[in-house]
Amino acid sequence: MRPESNLLRQSDDLRAAVSALEKAGVKLCIVVDDNGRVLRTVTDGDIRRGLIAGLAMTDPISDLQGTSPVTMLQGTGKADLIMELDNKGIDVIVLTDEDGRPTGLADRTSLTRTLFLSPPHMGDAEAAYVKLAFDENFVAPAGSNLVEFEAALCRVSGRAHALAVSSGTAGLHLALRVLDIGSGDRVYVSDLTFVATVQPVLYERATPMLIDAEPVSWNMSPEALARALARDAKAGQLPKAIVVVHLYGQPADMAAIMALATQYDVPVIEDAAESLGASCGNLASGAHGLLSVYSFNGNKIITTSGGGALVSDRPDLIRRAQKLATQGRDPAEHYQHSEIAYNYRMSNVLAGIGRGQLEVLRDRVTARREIHDRYVSGLGDIPGVSFQSELPGTLGNRWLTVISLDPDETGVHAYQLMRSLRTSGIETRPAWKPMQMQPLLRGAEFEPHSETLAVGPGLFLRTLCLPSGSAMTARQQDGVIASVRDVLTHRIAA
Ligand SMILES: Cc1ncc(COP(=O)(O)O)c(C=O)c1O
Repeated sequence: MRPESNLLRQSDDLRAAVSALEKAGVKLCIVVDDNGRVLRTVTDGDIRRGLIAGLAMTDPISDLQGTSPVTMLQGTGKADLIMELDNKGIDVIVLTDEDGRPTGLADRTSLTRTLFLSPPHMGDAEAAYVKLAFDENFVAPAGSNLVEFEAALCRVSGRAHALAVSSGTAGLHLALRVLDIGSGDRVYVSDLTFVATVQPVLYERATPMLIDAEPVSWNMSPEALARALARDAKAGQLPKAIVVVHLYGQPADMAAIMALATQYDVPVIEDAAESLGASCGNLASGAHGLLSVYSFNGNKIITTSGGGALVSDRPDLIRRAQKLATQGRDPAEHYQHSEIAYNYRMSNVLAGIGRGQLEVLRDRVTARREIHDRYVSGLGDIPGVSFQSELPGTLGNRWLTVISLDPDETGVHAYQLMRSLRTSGIETRPAWKPMQMQPLLRGAEFEPHSETLAVGPGLFLRTLCLPSGSAMTARQQDGVIASVRDVLTHRIAA
C-alpha cells in the first residue's frame, strides 16, 4: 500500500478524510504533522462518532477525538507485527521509518494470509471446458474433453497414446498391471521419491528394490542401478521393471538409465508425476520409458483437481490399461468380467480442467523456472546453501524449488527454517523422506549410490521445498527470500 494515498493533515476537513478513505480503499488514514511524522489515524468509526457528537463535514480533523496510533518500524518481522496486533486488539499497524514518517500499513488479513507451496493456478479456458461438459451432458468418464485432453497429452509428451485416469497413483498401478507384475516379482524403484511411486508395487505384492539417488539431480543413480542389475543378472533375478522418478520436475539421467535397461532387457516406467513439461535430450520427460505416468494432483504444475495419465507408444498396453481402468469388462453385450480391475478413469468434467491447463503449461514452466532462478540469485551466495541441479541436456520444469542447507555452514537445520517461515505465513515442506527410511518399507533391499555413500538420507536431512507456485508474484517471492536470508544470516531460527 502506498502511504501517500491515505495521508492527511490536521487541518483537512472530515470530507477530505472520507474521500481519502474511499479513494485509498483502506480502513484508516494517517494524519501527519508539518514534518510528515505520524500524529494520529482516522477511521470511518472516528468520523461517525464525530458526526454523532455534532461535528460537521467541514470541520477539521483536529476536532475529532483521537487515540495515539500504533506504529512500528518498517522491516519489523511478521511474527512481531502479529503479536502487537493481538496485544493491542487491533487490525492495522502504521509502519514508519526511523524518524516516525509513515512508510505503509501492516494489516491483519495480509499478515496472516499463508503463501502456499504450490497452489493451483487456473488459466482462462478451464471453466469454459467444464461448462462444455455440462452443456453436452457428458459429465461421466466419456466425452469430448476427455478425447481432446488425451490428444493434447500425446502432443505434450510426444507419445502415441494417452489414457487419462483418476490419479497418478492409479496410472502407476495400471503400468505395473499391464506388464503383468505380481506377487514376488522384483521391481526397482527410485528410493528418493513420494510414497506413491512404490505403493502400487506393494498393492501387487511385488518386491521393491530401492535404488539410491545421485548427488547432482537427486534422481536414480545410474551407478547404483548398474551395480544392482549386474548382481541380479548374475543371480538370475533381474527385475520385471524399473520405476524411475523425475524428482521435483528434474529429469533423471535417462540416457544412462535407458542404456542399462536396454542392456538387461528390463522395461522402464517413468514416474513423471512431477515433471510434465520438462525435457531430457530432445524428448519430453515421459517419452523414454515403455510406459510413463503424469499426475494432475492439486499441487502439481498443472492440475485437474486430482487426476493422472498413462502414456506409451504401445497401443496394446494402453488398450489393456483402459480395460483395467474400467472394471475389466469383457467384450460381451452383458456385463462379464474375468479379472480383477478398477474404476480408474478420469471424468470428462475434470478432463475439461486439464484441457484448459495444458494450454498454459508452457507459461507455467517458464514461470516456475524464473522462480527457481530468482531463488538461486537471491540466496545462492549464502555459505552452505545450494540447490538441485539440472543434468546436462535436461530442462526441468522446476515444479518445486528445493533448497539444500549444510547445517555446519548455515548453523540452521531445514526444519528450523521451516518453522521460522511458518510464523511468517510462508508454507514450506520437508523434502520427500527416502523410501528406505519409511516404516512401510522396513527391510526392503537398498542399493546405495556408491559402496561408501548413500545419498538420499543426507538430502532428506538437508533439504526444504520453497514456495514455487506459478502465480506467486515477484514481490511475494522477494518476501520469502528476505525471510530465508534473515533466518540464515542472523541464525534466528525457531
Ligand atoms: C513422484 C510422485 N509419484 C506419484 C505421485 C502420485 O500422483 P497422484 O497424487 O496423482 O496419485 C505423486 C504426486 O502426488 C508424486 O509426486
